[in-house]
Amino acid sequence: MSQIEILPSILAADFSRLGEQIRLLEDAGCRMLHIDVMDGHFVPNLTVGPPLVESLRKATKLRFDVHLMIEDPDTYAPIFIQAGADQVSVHQEACRHLDRTLHMIRSEGAKAGVVINPATPVSTLDEVLDIAEYVLVMSVNPGFGGQEFIPNSVHKVAQLARRKKERGLQFAIEIDGGITNENVGDAIRAGVEWVVAGSSIFHTVNPLAAFRQLRETAREATLVRV
Ligand code: DX5
Ligand code: ZN
Repeated sequence: MSQIEILPSILAADFSRLGEQIRLLEDAGCRMLHIDVMDGHFVPNLTVGPPLVESLRKATKLRFDVHLMIEDPDTYAPIFIQAGADQVSVHQEACRHLDRTLHMIRSEGAKAGVVINPATPVSTLDEVLDIAEYVLVMSVNPGFGGQEFIPNSVHKVAQLARRKKERGLQFAIEIDGGITNENVGDAIRAGVEWVVAGSSIFHTVNPLAAFRQLRETAREATLVRV
């Protein structure tokens, strides 16, 4: 079984203290950082662009997991990779030629991920599961942090895990949205390896302790994974 990773989502962080917060997490053994990119079209919110990724790249060695919630991922994915993204995920719903986009991300030198919204069935990914290096299951509707976890996402993770096993594939399974200490175990037991968490880490009095606790809860769940 591959290692469980907790990916803090900077969307919920204090942007005026980003470098400092990231360094603390890195010291605590955090290895991957989730960066949400929103364009105000694909989702009704705006966040960060390539300059922020470029600045952060100079401040940390953490792996950057860039989640593109934008209408034109083909234009912007290479720009984010150039800025320092190690892996880039694109929404199935935003890609007219998903196979081509995933190949393009890989050829630009990053890991290629594909994301599905809560209303998008796992079956829509059947033809690209051998191309994608990770699959992100949204457990909230994308656009905002701090929303409530949608329990059906756990079934979608289980469906993906089944396909992965049956077909002998390697992609990692990631979950994003509404993750807390209460639901992370269900996600892990269903097959999640990468857990994104925003509010439950940064909107606490001690983000570092919250990160450690979430990692602990997630690791404990692997002991009873079926
Ligand atoms: C939502 C973003 C998430 C968000 C998660 O569209 O993709 O990454 O930051 O935040 P929480 O953990 O607060 O739901
Ligand atoms: Zn995200």
